[in-house]
Amino acid sequence: MIELTIDGQKVEVEEGTTVLEAADKLNIAIPTLCHHEDLSPFGSCRLCTVEIRANGKFELTTACTCPAEQGMEVKTDSVKALEARKLAAELLLARCPSSKKIQKVAGEIGVEKPRVEVKEEACILCGLCVRTCQELVEVGAIKFIDKGLNRDISEPFIEVSTDKCIGCGSCAYICPTNFITLKEEGDTRIIWDRVFKLKKCKVCGNYWAPEAQLEYIGEKLNLPPDFFDVCPNCK
Ligand code: FES
Repeated sequence: MIELTIDGQKVEVEEGTTVLEAADKLNIAIPTLCHHEDLSPFGSCRLCTVEIRANGKFELTTACTCPAEQGMEVKTDSVKALEARKLAAELLLARCPSSKKIQKVAGEIGVEKPRVEVKEEACILCGLCVRTCQELVEVGAIKFIDKGLNRDISEPFIEVSTDKCIGCGSCAYICPTNFITLKEEGDTRIIWDRVFKLKKCKVCGNYWAPEAQLEYIGEKLNLPPDFFDVCPNCK
């Protein structure tokens, strides 16, 4: 176990715990947007900025990616940390002003309107769709074209292999800005401009999931071919 201090309170956590998780243990709330507890840390939105003492002086870092260390001192509510969060919220809001989720989190930080030029880009590079597709669905149909400092945000930054996509819609569900759209009409679902045929339940007759998704799960779990003939509601 390691011990650190957050906002003057001592807390003991296991090695590998992030500052965000350690703060949560003390019920200290830190705003987040690109963080999801079931996905690997990404650190793109910077809404979780805190100050930590490193090498004898305080510096800003993202709580969701920063591992807690023995003797570390963290300030979650310092003037510098709060200013950095506000700036991050303004940049997100400028990029995607009509996203309800961003409006909400920015409002909680005290930002109603960005001081910088508004662009309406709809994608904020949070990486939630990429990580969900890779780590939870384990399909990897979405990926970044470029990474890190070389990422050119004026170009399309994610690439979707529509032939790999199974139409599950997890990316659309987790997207905080509705950049990814999913439409269903009758027996079809459209996502990433690809049309997926939906499976019809043999009992209720409802179309309930893309056949491609069910085939993928069936193969992965070695299920009998008729396993998905009936929808979960009628099983
Ligand atoms: Fe930490 Fe986005 S939640 S950088």
